[in-house]
Amino acid sequence: MKTILITGCSSGFGLEIARHFLDHGWRVIATMRKPDASVLPASEHLRILPLDVTDAESIRRVVDAAGPIDALVNNAGVGAAAPFEYTSLTLARTLFETNTIGTMAVTQAFIPQFRERRGGVIVNVTSTVTLKSLPLVSLYTASKAAVNAFTASLAVELQSHGVQVRLVLPGRSPETRFGHNAHRAALDGEVYADIVKATLARIGDTEGPVTYAKDVAQAVWRAVTDPAAPLRTAAGADAELWMAEAGA
Ligand SMILES: NC(=O)c1ccc[n+]([C@@H]2O[C@H](COP(=O)([O-])OP(=O)(O)OC[C@H]3O[C@@H](n4cnc5c(N)ncnc54)[C@H](OP(=O)(O)O)[C@@H]3O)[C@@H](O)[C@H]2O)c1
Repeated sequence: MKTILITGCSSGFGLEIARHFLDHGWRVIATMRKPDASVLPASEHLRILPLDVTDAESIRRVVDAAGPIDALVNNAGVGAAAPFEYTSLTLARTLFETNTIGTMAVTQAFIPQFRERRGGVIVNVTSTVTLKSLPLVSLYTASKAAVNAFTASLAVELQSHGVQVRLVLPGRSPETRFGHNAHRAALDGEVYADIVKATLARIGDTEGPVTYAKDVAQAVWRAVTDPAAPLRTAAGADAELWMAEAGA
C-alpha cells in the first residue's frame, strides 16, 4: 500500500485530495496547522500530523513522524487581493513564506528519502493565475509563478535520481475557504476603485466554468499515479481553457 503526505488538509483542495487517495486505497498522512480528525472519515489508513510549512522545526518533526512516503503534495497556500501600490512588503513576505518558501522547505526536507529510494513523486499546487495576468493579485501570482519555475527546474534535476516532480494548476474555486482566508488590503480606496469593482464582479460571477475540489483531487491523482503525466496538469474546466489559451 502506498503512502501520500499532503499539506494544508484542514479545508478545500487538501481535504478533498486526502479523501480521494483514501478512497483509492492509499495510506494518507493529512497534515494541518491545527490537526482536526473530524474533517476526514475515520480510517486505519489515515494519519493526521501537525505541520506549519513556515516553521522549520514543524517540518523536521513531520519528516521524522511520517517515515517513508511515496508522494508529497504541497497544497498549503494563502491568497491576497490588494492593489500593489498599497500592499505592504510584510504581506509580500507572508505570502512568499507560505506559498513559495514553505513549498521549497517541505520539498527539500523530503528529497533525501525519495532520492535514496530512487522513487517518489512531488506535486506542487500552484494556480492558473500564473497563466493569465489579472489585477490585484500580483503578489499571489508572483509567489505561485516562482513555484512553477522552481518545479520545472527541480523536475529536470531529480529526473536522473528517479524522482518525479509535477505541477497542478487549479482555476478559480469559489467552493473552498480560499477567498475567505485570503489577505485583503486597500480595496476600498478611490484610485483603483474601477479595477476593484470589475474584479469583485468577476470573482462573484456564478456563470461560466469554475474549478471544484474534486477536479483538483483528480488532477493530483493523475500527476501522482500516471507515469506519463505532463509537468503541468490543469485542474478544473476554467483551468483547462486558460491553459489551452496560454498554450502552456
Ligand atoms: N480556491 C481557489 O480559487 C484556488 C485557485 C488556484 C489555486 N489555489 C491554491 O490551492 C491551494 C489550496 O487552496 P484552497 O482553495 O483549498 O484554500 P483553503 O480552503 O483556504 O485551504 C488552504 C489550506 O492551506 C493551509 N495553510 C495555510 N497556511 C499554511 C501554513 N503556513 N502551513 C500549513 N498549512 C497552511 C490552510 O490551513 P489553515 O486552516 O490552518 O489556515 C488550509 O488547510 C492553495 O495553495 C491555493 O493557493 C486555490
